[in-house]
Amino acid sequence: MSVEHDTQQAQGEGLPGVTDSGFSETGPLGPPYPIDARVNEAGRLEIGGCDVVDLAAEHGTPAYIYAEGDLRARARAAVDAFGADAGVLFASKSFPCTAAYRVMAAEGIFCDVASGGELHLALKGGFAPERILMHGNNKTREELQLAIDAGIGYIVIDSFDEIDRLAEMLPADGPRTLIRVAPGLKPSTHAYIQTGQVDSKFGIPLSQVEQAIQKAPNFVGLHCHLGSQFFDVEIFQAAAEVLAGFEVKCQVVNVGGGFGIPYLEHDHPPRIAEYARTIRDAVAEHFGPDTKVMVEPGRWLVGNAGVTAYTVGTVKEIPGVRRYVAVDGGMSDNIRPMLYQAEYTARIADRFAREPTRDVRVVGMHCESGDVILPEVMLHEPAVGDTLVVPATGAYGHAMASNYNGVRRPPVIFCADGESRVVVRRETFEDLAARDAG
Ligand code: LLP
Repeated sequence: MSVEHDTQQAQGEGLPGVTDSGFSETGPLGPPYPIDARVNEAGRLEIGGCDVVDLAAEHGTPAYIYAEGDLRARARAAVDAFGADAGVLFASKSFPCTAAYRVMAAEGIFCDVASGGELHLALKGGFAPERILMHGNNKTREELQLAIDAGIGYIVIDSFDEIDRLAEMLPADGPRTLIRVAPGLKPSTHAYIQTGQVDSKFGIPLSQVEQAIQKAPNFVGLHCHLGSQFFDVEIFQAAAEVLAGFEVKCQVVNVGGGFGIPYLEHDHPPRIAEYARTIRDAVAEHFGPDTKVMVEPGRWLVGNAGVTAYTVGTVKEIPGVRRYVAVDGGMSDNIRPMLYQAEYTARIADRFAREPTRDVRVVGMHCESGDVILPEVMLHEPAVGDTLVVPATGAYGHAMASNYNGVRRPPVIFCADGESRVVVRRETFEDLAARDAG
């Protein structure tokens, strides 16, 4: 899924990976590790000043470990890059936990929610309602009512049925609306995470957008979201051009998220400053300088800030075939390799600085042959008891975790300045039966 980006272009101004405001998108370990990660004196991986092997001993594994400073730095860099007059929304489906909402709210970010549940979490995490925008291709009446009652800022309309519902429900002083357009654009990424194509469940077809604009209550602008994890910045120019093809004055233009991040060492996505410049210029060119620009990055804000720590439990050699390294999590904490053939890298945290020696397959503990986290990766002498880390799991890991095989979903641990705190606790066995009514 990774696409090579022309890094020459990124080096045009200043250091590669450093934004205009001086924010460096990678730290001493390079992509895809958190900025605030390093190898400590013991030769072990440290995140936010905390030794990951010690964290594994203290909190158990699997565990999602985040450098809190990264979350904050990335949020600030995005706000800086797009400018205070724009709206950078945290696509909170990527990491819906109270502590993450709290960080984003404190750093001047707006919030995108895609359900009543995410709205509940965003409000609990301290987002001012007027800074929240609601998405969804099939929002229920209950969800729309929650949004209206909470007084959120924006609802993105996805269908004519929703227009009919809102025409009945939405007061004139209620949330403003945007129309989601299906722009007919396909970024280069996995088909499951393309959303802007013609044949999509999302958005209004181009030929019906003007009719939708005329009917929509509280209309203020247009929206599109092309897909996720793509590196082609220029496609946003095409998106702005498509959205500008309608006879309407827009106060707001929202081009969605999808900004790609590095998952592997050699991934070089565009910098946030490039996204910002391209999108701002394109919207200004087509809609004029006074139109408010909105974007909805999820993964970009949180993906590289987090890693997953596992413990190696078995190492199995099949002579002449391969070596399997099994860890104590898998598809229940990271479904992305199975859903999208997403590629990751991994390292042994205990001997982080040592050169990898063994070509292995890293698998989970689930009763599925497809439960493969890394089909092939080089590790340094993986052995039972080692702490294995998979970086870039900060987005859509915790968010898409399940209890498959009765696993207790992992904790989320924030690390900063050598201190760790549990912001989501590990589930208990009691939690597993907590909803059972019979
Ligand atoms: N805006 C809208 C309307 C979206 O549907 C999404 C993601 C985003 C923004 C944020 O996209 P991001 O910047 O995080 O790529 N579970 C998949 C990704 C599906 C995302 C769905 N919508 C994954 O693990 O890659």
